[in-house]
Amino acid sequence: MEIRKAVIPAAGLGTRFLPVTKSMPKEMLPIIDKPVIQYVVEEAIDAGIDDIIIISGRGKRAIEDYFDAAPELEMRLSYQHKEETLSRLKKITDFPGIHYIRQKEPRGLGDAILRAEKHIGNEPFAVLLGDDIIANSYSCTGQLMSIFSRFNASVISIEPVPPEKVSSYGIIKGKAIEPDLFAIEDIIEKPAISLAPSNLGAVGRYIFVPEIFDCLKNTSPGVGNEIQLTDAIRLLLKEHPVYGYKFKGKRYDTGDKLGYIETIIDYALQDPQLQENLKKFLVDRLN
Ligand code: UTP
Repeated sequence: MEIRKAVIPAAGLGTRFLPVTKSMPKEMLPIIDKPVIQYVVEEAIDAGIDDIIIISGRGKRAIEDYFDAAPELEMRLSYQHKEETLSRLKKITDFPGIHYIRQKEPRGLGDAILRAEKHIGNEPFAVLLGDDIIANSYSCTGQLMSIFSRFNASVISIEPVPPEKVSSYGIIKGKAIEPDLFAIEDIIEKPAISLAPSNLGAVGRYIFVPEIFDCLKNTSPGVGNEIQLTDAIRLLLKEHPVYGYKFKGKRYDTGDKLGYIETIIDYALQDPQLQENLKKFLVDRLN
């Protein structure tokens, strides 16, 4: 079965980024001149998704406004013959398939995904976290879809995490069945390093069979009193196979302050208009 729909949870409080996230969604933080969530939406579209559900919440209106049309602005740019800016703007607003569902309270990532159940229905779907950018010419979502098409089973993106970060991730226990591909046997949310079954952490891209919704409904609040997606995946594992794939690409956790700064620097260093002067500036500062 083809994956046509994606859920992008973006209703979290972004407490690591307070105070700026008090009135601005962390998914709207700019990477130079594009907000984080635009990279995520573009990845889904590149992978062939034509129906995107953004989970939004209180204080997140800026996301809806961003993807909405801006006729006055478009008219002004057209009048001023700023064709390039206009076409960049229209690229954002022309995609018809973005819908919004509100999560009334930020009760956790698992709860956010469960809000999309009615819209997804009984078909497999992708999840892309709204604050994670994964850069690669072959999108991470596309890579997971190709695993899904072979095994017809849920698959999550994983990457090795350093020991000091293990307790911030869902860590998998799995059996390697191919290079970079694991049949997951268990997954533990934010384990102490001494209890971690591996160093492979689940990161921001997933493909799920629709049975995940029943598992989410049967998941009680866990770590942080939130409905944890990891706990629902554990339930799913009891009846359905779940694979972990060490994706190809570079992941940027923009919800983390250092991760955010690294993202901006990397993207600026790839920008032909910025790279030379930025390199000079960085060398100068480091000296
Ligand atoms: P995070 O755990 O990184 O987001 O969730 P957070 O809770 O906002 O961050 P901190 O720890 O307080 O800084 C990953 C993604 O899931 C969404 C977030 O918006 C983010 O894009 N999320 C999280 C929801 O949609 N709802 C929630 O209840 C929690």
